[in-house]
Amino acid sequence: MQGAARLFFTLAVIYSILGMILGLTMAISNDHGEMVTHAHIMLAGWVTSALVAYFYHLFPAISSKPIATYHFWFQAASTVVMLGSLLLLYGGHPAVEPGAAIGSIGFILSMLLFAYISLPVVWKS
Ligand code: HEM
Ligand code: HEM
Repeated sequence: MQGAARLFFTLAVIYSILGMILGLTMAISNDHGEMVTHAHIMLAGWVTSALVAYFYHLFPAISSKPIATYHFWFQAASTVVMLGSLLLLYGGHPAVEPGAAIGSIGFILSMLLFAYISLPVVWKS
């Protein structure tokens, strides 16, 4: 792997470890209050980043383009803000809700950027 593929895959693995630690913490404490955060770290963090990593792995010429690196940093920042805000929100800090909104909007925009990058490639190949 190289370029954005390697960056997205690394981010995915980090999210999988953090999300599982949170899942295990919920299971041990018998307090499932962070279920929504856990679900999104696992699916929006681990699974989505891994799928994006494999797209870039299949198309290495795209993976090494600057736009793919911008996509990585934009999605990484958006998900960190979204998931970090969810953790605080469900931990009892409602004041961070705007952070969850901003992170979510960033995440949707990064998926639109991914559509712009990926769809022409898969339809051409
Ligand atoms: C160490 C591994 C894991 C542990 C200890 C764990 C633990 C938990 C716990 C305690 C809940 C709350 C269940 C409830 O209150 O109904 C939960 C929910 C959930 N987990 Fe995990 N989990 C793990 C791994 C995963 C993985 C690998 C994924 C997906 C890739 C995942 C996705 C989810 C989802 C989507 C929910 C929400 C389910 C719902 O909406 O009912 N978890 N997990
Ligand atoms: C902009 C991004 C997203 C937003 C704003 C969002 C918002 C939400 C909301 C409001 C809920 C209901 C939470 C509740 O029960 O109180 C939810 C649940 C859920 N979402 Fe998302 N979501 C996003 C992205 C995703 C993605 C990308 C995935 C999977 C790849 C996903 C998977 C799920 C799952 C499995 C649940 C049920 C989890 C549970 O019951 O705790 N979401 N989401």
